[in-house]
Amino acid sequence: MKRERSFVLLITLALLLSIFSNGHQNGAQKHSKHIKEKDHNSNSTHYDIRTFGAVGDGVSDDSEALIEAWKAACKVYGATVEIPSGLNFLLRPVTLQGPCMPHLILQIDGTLLAPPSVASWSKSSLFQWINLKWVSDFTIQGNGTLDGQGSSWWSLSATPQSTNKETTSSPLEMRPTVLRFYASCNIMVRNIHIINSPLCHLKFDSSRGVKVSNIMISSPKDSPNTDGIHLQNTRDVEIKHSNIGCGDDCVSIQTGCANVNIHHLDCSPSHGISLGSLGKGSSLACVSNVSVNTITVQNALSGVRIKTWQGGKGSVKNATFSNIRVSDVEIPIVIDQYYCNKRSCKNKTEAVAISDVTYKGITGTYTYKPLSIACSDSLPCTDLSLIDVQLSPYYESRSHQEAFCWKSYGEAQGSLEPSGVSCLRKNSKLHT
Ligand SMILES: *[C@@H]1O[C@H](CO)[C@@H](O)[C@H](O)[C@H]1NC(C)=O
Ligand SMILES: *[C@@H]1O[C@H](CO)[C@@H](O)[C@H](O)[C@H]1NC(C)=O
Ligand SMILES: *[C@@H]1O[C@H](CO)[C@@H](O)[C@H](O)[C@H]1NC(C)=O
Ligand SMILES: *[C@@H]1O[C@H](CO)[C@@H](O)[C@H](O)[C@H]1NC(C)=O
Ligand SMILES: *[C@@H]1O[C@H](CO)[C@@H](O)[C@H](O)[C@H]1NC(C)=O
Repeated sequence: MKRERSFVLLITLALLLSIFSNGHQNGAQKHSKHIKEKDHNSNSTHYDIRTFGAVGDGVSDDSEALIEAWKAACKVYGATVEIPSGLNFLLRPVTLQGPCMPHLILQIDGTLLAPPSVASWSKSSLFQWINLKWVSDFTIQGNGTLDGQGSSWWSLSATPQSTNKETTSSPLEMRPTVLRFYASCNIMVRNIHIINSPLCHLKFDSSRGVKVSNIMISSPKDSPNTDGIHLQNTRDVEIKHSNIGCGDDCVSIQTGCANVNIHHLDCSPSHGISLGSLGKGSSLACVSNVSVNTITVQNALSGVRIKTWQGGKGSVKNATFSNIRVSDVEIPIVIDQYYCNKRSCKNKTEAVAISDVTYKGITGTYTYKPLSIACSDSLPCTDLSLIDVQLSPYYESRSHQEAFCWKSYGEAQGSLEPSGVSCLRKNSKLHT
């Protein structure tokens, strides 16, 4: 008896659902094709968030629907959570948590909207907007957009209380990242657009096996601290064929990263590709096996740089930057072991050691200085190579600074322009 009743209930529900989706079909002609497809081969692996109550009008809170769709799909091998195209889904901060069955896909074809103003964020969840936690064998794909609606956060930085960058304790100092992966492995992100983040756009934290391809990231050049992609304590990474334009680092590689391969990116505008800053507050930082190849950087603060704080520990080893084309970039090649975010920082003897860094085929124009390599007094940089570095001033008529090298050992070879970029000292001189 009980069984029959729930069966009837199910049928009624199914009927209601089909009426509901037909209604949508009439209302939104644009998506009729999509919905028809779903009706024809409706199967148990597709979880459209509308089925779970999402409205998609850009005003209703659709967070719960996404979480419910996720929970259902998570239990099914090879399932897809679908964010349908043509609609705007407003979400408050959400955590989509694994472990899930393998080959789960989050298909983002529509637009996801973050809370529209600083005031509409809840204070307890300012770390990120969408948090993927403990997932593996997982993909995010689709032609949709994640819109962080960050403009009200950017203008905050102009207010007096937030000018002190040393303190991050005030709730307003903590700004959300749009999309963060935490403790995840074998994850793929492709095709989606991520725009207007309050802070970083895409972050991988404590993860392993990351593939990013064909994505687009976009925020204004003057939006503060809006990194494109941030890697932290993450190994075995490939980032390729993507367009990243933002107000801070295009890709930022932080401590604990190894085996990172970045190629075919456009980083305009941005602060370029950056290792660090590393070793802040005398911390231990290790980064190794980084390859950055075939990158264009236009209208940027730097092209490729490594920055470390004095007093840090650990090392940067085996990094290669090749085929980097810069245009209108302040300083294309930077190593700064005196990184400091105030007027001056105390000199310290400990430093993050930098060795085996190759620059090969760095070409284009600079607006301030072609190269600046400032290594630690107590722990000089070793085994640096500059091969075929050809840089010329962007403004022919203005005066420019010379290339600068300090405590940096290695070799320059091939065609070098201006000749000053060969300012490295020979490795063999290091111990004499
Ligand atoms: C499920 O339906 C989708 C389209 O709605 C289709 O792409 C997919 O291949 C189907 N899966 C199975 C196992 O039939
Ligand atoms: C998504 O974009 C890709 C590449 O731009 C295109 O091939 C594909 O047809 C698009 N899919 C939809 C559903 O619009
Ligand atoms: C760097 O690459 C080498 C050679 O492939 C490998 O032996 C080493 O383990 C890698 N380093 C790290 C930290 O994974
Ligand atoms: C340096 O890193 C690259 C990957 O970026 C790796 O292929 C190579 O084996 C590493 N070399 C050493 C000596 O670890
Ligand atoms: C730190 O060292 C640099 C280079 O040796 C020197 O120019 C600078 O004055 C020192 N700064 C302080 C605060 O001692």
